[in-house]
Amino acid sequence: MTNSTLPLPPRNAPTWSSRLTFILAATGSAVGLGNIWKFPYITGENGGGAFVLVYLLCILLAGIPVMIAEVLLGKQGRSSPVFAVQRLALEAGRSRHWRWLGALGVVAGVLILSYYSVIAGWALAYLPKMLAGDFVGIAGDGSSAIFKSHLARPAVLLGWHSLFMVMTMAVVIAGVTRGLGRAVEFLMPVLFVLLLILLGFAIAEGEFMQAVRYLFSFDNAAALTGKSVLIALGHAFFTLSIGMGAIMAYGSYMPPAAPVARTVWVVAVMDTCVALVAGLAIFPIVFASPDLDPASGPGLLFVSLPVAFGGMPAGVLFGTLFFALVSVAAWTSSISLIEPAVAWLVDSGRARRWQAGVILGVLCWAIGVGSVLSFNDWQDWHLLGGFNWFELSDFLTANLMLPLGGILMAIFVGHLYSTQAVRKALDIEGWLYRLWHFVLRWVSPVLVAVVLVYGLIGVFT
Ligand code: PHE
Repeated sequence: MTNSTLPLPPRNAPTWSSRLTFILAATGSAVGLGNIWKFPYITGENGGGAFVLVYLLCILLAGIPVMIAEVLLGKQGRSSPVFAVQRLALEAGRSRHWRWLGALGVVAGVLILSYYSVIAGWALAYLPKMLAGDFVGIAGDGSSAIFKSHLARPAVLLGWHSLFMVMTMAVVIAGVTRGLGRAVEFLMPVLFVLLLILLGFAIAEGEFMQAVRYLFSFDNAAALTGKSVLIALGHAFFTLSIGMGAIMAYGSYMPPAAPVARTVWVVAVMDTCVALVAGLAIFPIVFASPDLDPASGPGLLFVSLPVAFGGMPAGVLFGTLFFALVSVAAWTSSISLIEPAVAWLVDSGRARRWQAGVILGVLCWAIGVGSVLSFNDWQDWHLLGGFNWFELSDFLTANLMLPLGGILMAIFVGHLYSTQAVRKALDIEGWLYRLWHFVLRWVSPVLVAVVLVYGLIGVFT
């Protein structure tokens, strides 16, 4: 071994018992706060329909093609992201510095989890509130007041953030492939059914047609700026869990015969449906309550849905169940956020799995304290670009690091890795393969780069 080649860990054995478990684990990662909490509120902040259209285009032209590439990298590399990319780069005769692509993802995962856990903590906190009937018969202003007083108590937020972090690390330490598939298999369908119940309520009681118009027409297209387009693009990566190695790490446990492209397609379609249904359930309620504002930001889910639960029969039950499921959806995503970092520490021999879990848990928790305070004491403390700590953690990761990771993955798989190996490993042929390959090589990286540059100019000028 020379200095230029670091020792590579042994290859991961396939561990997902079937294609279905991989689909479920990947869906568990993809479907989370991004779909239910983030998508509705950023749609509201960016004017609705035009934003949704740009987001859907980003999913099609960059999200799905890059997701296929990322799963492929994991499946072929058979290691944690840092080493998977390094191994494939060396095999393809490229620089070992490609491992920095994996490292970028490790950092992004830590940063995302730091604030993701804070928001997941809100969902946990809403469980006892729902159960106690705090929202029964409440209107928009009452619900906003409850949310505001929740945010005003940093110690309470910190407690829930800590609990969520412990929950995440407990599963991570036990090993991701054990038990996770089972849980997701059962809980994801229940979450979906609950969203459909909410949708039914929104259709019956809310301003449903106004919401449809808001989400799918261009009435507010003027609200779409360069920054909005960047947010839509960043969210396409965020919601699919791509650009930072989460889905690559999961791909590395895939059985060799499992079909990558078809699986990715299924996951991406499910993920998009959950986001759209969440939007269609939330906005009718927002529009039916004169004191709720679609552009009210990160609290949107937490102020609007309790109004719906407060007004429906058995709302206490459904409301509690809903926030329980949102917490679980966040949980299955948070595990995948930290898996690349944990696997890297373990594979490189720097720590055992439990040690890696503890170290990273403490690190994410500590960075997350800044996000807890961003909603109260540090609210007006603006850092770079006028963002507070929470906003900056979100912006740097979702809108900068994930798209950057995505460009690099597209370039690596599209231009530098052996075309034959890619072709052999994929389950698509003929024109479909050629279409994917063309889009991955030329459309996705160029599109992402252009949006990134314009968006950043828009934000910092
Ligand atoms: N996709 C998850 C969500 O929508 C978040 C996530 C991002 C998970 C990146 C893993 C990696 O909530």
